[in-house]
Amino acid sequence: MERRSSTWFAATGRSGMNHRAWMRSQGFTSEVFDGRPVIGIATTWSELAPCNVHLHRVAESVKRGVWQAGGFPLEFPAMALGETLLRPTAMLYRNLLAMEAEELIRANPLDGVVLLSGCDKTTPGLLMAASSVGLPAIMVTGGPMLNGKYQGADVGSGTAVWRWEEDLLAGRMTEAECAFAEGCMARSNGHCMTMGTASTMASMAEALGMQLPYSASWPAVDARRYETAQRAGQVIVDLVEHDVTPDKIMTREAFENAIRVNAAIGGSTNAVIHLLAIAGRLGVPLALDDFDTLIRDIPTLVNLQPSGKYLMEDFCYAGGLPAVMRELGGLLHTGALTVTRETVGENVKDAPCWNRDVIMPFDQPFQAAGTGTAVLRGNLAPDGAVIKQSAASPHLLKHRGRALVFDSPEAYHQVAADPDLEVDEDTVLIIRYCGPKGYPGMPETANVPLPAKLLKRGVRDIVRICDGRMSGTAYGTVVLHVAPEAAAGGPLALVRTGDWITLDVPARTLSLDVPDDELAVRRAAWTPPPQPAARGWTWLYTEHVQQADKGCDLDFLTGASGARVGRDPH
Ligand code: FES
Repeated sequence: MERRSSTWFAATGRSGMNHRAWMRSQGFTSEVFDGRPVIGIATTWSELAPCNVHLHRVAESVKRGVWQAGGFPLEFPAMALGETLLRPTAMLYRNLLAMEAEELIRANPLDGVVLLSGCDKTTPGLLMAASSVGLPAIMVTGGPMLNGKYQGADVGSGTAVWRWEEDLLAGRMTEAECAFAEGCMARSNGHCMTMGTASTMASMAEALGMQLPYSASWPAVDARRYETAQRAGQVIVDLVEHDVTPDKIMTREAFENAIRVNAAIGGSTNAVIHLLAIAGRLGVPLALDDFDTLIRDIPTLVNLQPSGKYLMEDFCYAGGLPAVMRELGGLLHTGALTVTRETVGENVKDAPCWNRDVIMPFDQPFQAAGTGTAVLRGNLAPDGAVIKQSAASPHLLKHRGRALVFDSPEAYHQVAADPDLEVDEDTVLIIRYCGPKGYPGMPETANVPLPAKLLKRGVRDIVRICDGRMSGTAYGTVVLHVAPEAAAGGPLALVRTGDWITLDVPARTLSLDVPDDELAVRRAAWTPPPQPAARGWTWLYTEHVQQADKGCDLDFLTGASGARVGRDPH
């Protein structure tokens, strides 16, 4: 079989000379052009993405493995998305990373690709890219940070920040204590070490079969992270030799596995959006409702923050994802293929569990089946909304209250500390115009901190509803991803302060208790917000982004174009 890369490097005449000569400027000997597999290593390294800053070193380990297996590794940068720095939100750029990486993989002389990611959006962005090209691919996520430590106790990245902010607002912590504490949380390389979005998506990549067993949980600074990376370098050469492309691994069965594993690990709601987007690239039929119906018999097994107690380092030492997948047993499609060229069942059949307080047995779970992500519908969310039940307060899962409406998180923050704010524990707090078009980019604004007035009274949760997202490190009774969003004319735009809203999670409904004729009057008076940008990426994004129930991919990026490359002008 002629390699794809050979059409560059084995070409005769000026074309071949051009392709080879400039590569030799890096000091490679001519043997690298002998027809061996050329392996791209897409790295989302950047000092502006602290969670990914060690990926350069991970890439060196991957290269060792590729050389060992007889391949030719070439590292290249892909857009690094640092969750904590990018404004308005890294989510605005996930599709740009996916588009950039797709074109880079396709346009270069590659036979396979290793995807190095870590921070939240880099994992789904690279998987979307690889799915649309279809060359053999394997993912290596960068691994979680070591546990944070403050005053002798573990603190989880992200999750601790939400608590400290509330403690500060409620007067339980001083500014000086907060300043000291923030230096104790993110104390090593790696991504957030709670079961936030980064850990969730790393686990999803493993559950889908796209990264090696245990790869999601080795801490970023653990030698086994680098050993796994080296192994991945060997494996990608094997995948190229056997033409194992992502569509053979990421099948409908693999997505069903991932959705069930996400329920078992108490993973982030962001996985809903990202898995829908990846499936859309592959043409795998997947719907928002699958995230509810497929998990009703899946208990939460993993006792990790933000829903539970422990952190990713503990999860690793307890046995990691293979121990969870073994526990799920026949509830998974154990025959699904993975990058090991073995099945899920073969990969996890002997996986031990070393700590039953971290990874609990199926018959004695951390949280009972039916407490995972629920998909809600009703006249307030005709195309759906989600709620993470395991992070919510049980007494609020059936609730009726009056709306307190804000058209932006900023508008809410301006009054959140007001002691005279008209709010009580029954209030339903609505933060809208935070969807993909509205903010734009669908930021993690849904879990705004409670009004200071309530915090000081000891209230720790109220119902919040938003067309934005919630950080995977956050918690609370928060209805997310309301679709259609307010900026697209969804009914959320028509709610007024004082309206009654009924949330009934067991019945999967979310209702605005306002008569239809009154809603029609309000709709006639509603005007859409102006386009947030007149040019550039933000304009392109807001013109083409799909709603949350479709995964927020751009409409013209769904599907795949394959690996066929354009013409060679040389
Ligand atoms: Fe990068 Fe949390 S900020 S993973």
